[in-house]
Amino acid sequence: MRNISFWLESKAAKTGFAKDRENVALGERIYRGGIADRQVPACAGCHSPNGAGIPAQYPRIGGQHAEYAAAQLTAFRDGVRKNNLQMSQIAAKLNDREIKALADYVAGLR
Ligand code: HEC
Repeated sequence: MRNISFWLESKAAKTGFAKDRENVALGERIYRGGIADRQVPACAGCHSPNGAGIPAQYPRIGGQHAEYAAAQLTAFRDGVRKNNLQMSQIAAKLNDREIKALADYVAGLR
């Protein structure tokens, strides 16, 4: 695993990009400001404003492929991925449209 990690780290990441302009605005709003009336925190608070995260604490999600990010958020929400309580609780409050919007926004973050 260590060798594979070193090898992967040496590769330049092929980042994703946002595709849906209308959705991106909704994604940006939630990413930066959360959804106050449903106690959804701003994603930027942990994953940082540019999506770089905080190494060893919060993962980088900026530039992540939208399909992957949406799949992970859905898996957290549906209890399929249960390795992190914070993310499970956050994703539990997101609907499909918000997940899609966030995933698309994150893909274009640098
Ligand atoms: C309180 C801090 C916190 C907030 C706020 C937060 N996250 Fe996370 N997020 C985490 C942590 C910690 C993980 C890593 C969980 C793990 O160990 O697998 C994570 C993982 C993820 C992943 C999976 C990354 C991967 O590589 O599999 C995605 C996607 C994600 N978060 C999106 C979001 C979005 C979108 C929001 C805003 C709605 C958000 N997060 C808000 C802490 C947070």
